Amino acid sequence: MAPREARVVDSFEMHIADLNATDLDRLHALSISVGWPHRAEDWQFVREVGEGIVAMDEIGRIQGSAMWFPYDAHFATIGMVITSPRLQSNGAGQWLMGHVLDRVAGRDLGLNATRAARRLYHTLNFSREACVYQCNGEAIAPPELDRPAGGVLRVLELGDLDAIVELDGAAFGADRRILLGRLLTCSKGIGLIRGGKMEAFSLCRPFGRGHVIGPVVATNDEDAIAVVHPHAARHAATFLRLDTREKKGRFSDFLSRCGLPVCDTVTTMSLGRRWLTVREGDARGKPRTYALASQALG
Ligand SMILES: CC(C)(COP(=O)(O)OP(=O)(O)OC[C@H]1O[C@@H](n2cnc3c(N)ncnc32)[C@H](O)[C@@H]1OP(=O)(O)O)[C@@H](O)C(=O)NCCC(=O)NCCS
Repeated sequence: MAPREARVVDSFEMHIADLNATDLDRLHALSISVGWPHRAEDWQFVREVGEGIVAMDEIGRIQGSAMWFPYDAHFATIGMVITSPRLQSNGAGQWLMGHVLDRVAGRDLGLNATRAARRLYHTLNFSREACVYQCNGEAIAPPELDRPAGGVLRVLELGDLDAIVELDGAAFGADRRILLGRLLTCSKGIGLIRGGKMEAFSLCRPFGRGHVIGPVVATNDEDAIAVVHPHAARHAATFLRLDTREKKGRFSDFLSRCGLPVCDTVTTMSLGRRWLTVREGDARGKPRTYALASQALG
């Protein structure tokens, strides 16, 4: 029998480079390699509203990525953390995160960790806060709804930015004006107005395999359902997604009826001050985030 030949095939150096200077198709190939649904356009969107780094090898291949979204001087989310499958469990994730933590030093941090990443963030002292339910599927048109009590629904316009920034800020805990302004330009928005005041809103945009609904901010399940209903009806029979922390209750029942079962979960974690300002059982009457803008954006 011929002697078995062995050779080392993975011995190369990587360096950190600016994600914004990276070819979009290469970033897209990286997220496809880990089974993520992002389109090149979705990468372009996160590049416009955040900052990031890539791990690049000697011949320009992208082997990893990590981004941060600094909403204000005090708070940022971290997302789009990926290492190429053949490198995983070799320390590249830790290495990338070390660079990210240097760049966002001084800020409180939040992120939504996949199962694969939970241990990485735990090692970096992030604490678990909540579970996020990724609900998606082929949407089913929900039954007609009565008009929301005492309110009217209307399509959002660019002039509504101040009102949604205020409502979102009360729920999210930071001012996301730049992100929301950018989202308004590529989303269909629905607002619930009572007594001239915006009491709930939802945005829905193309993402991944279809459309994603988010963010959604409301003070109760009925209002959240009222602003999500028009998107579910509009996208019936097509792929629709919504990421929520609502585990049970009328809102999550409504999502199931719309053909959006829970398909995966991620874990909201934070480093520094606690992120989620509205704790379970303490939420009545206060605006809260019923749907995330995305797992990376919070
Ligand atoms: C999550 C991810 C970025 C980790 O990158 P990595 O290069 O494997 O990270 P490291 O080698 O530095 O390992 C970091 C820790 O995670 C652990 N780990 C790595 N892959 C793991 C997996 N698939 N399941 C469980 N733990 C895992 C390592 O053992 C290590 O633990 P330790 O620090 O206690 O030793 C990578 O697995 C990945 O890209 N996954 C797919 C995309 C994804 O889920 N991204 C996270 C978005 S929040």
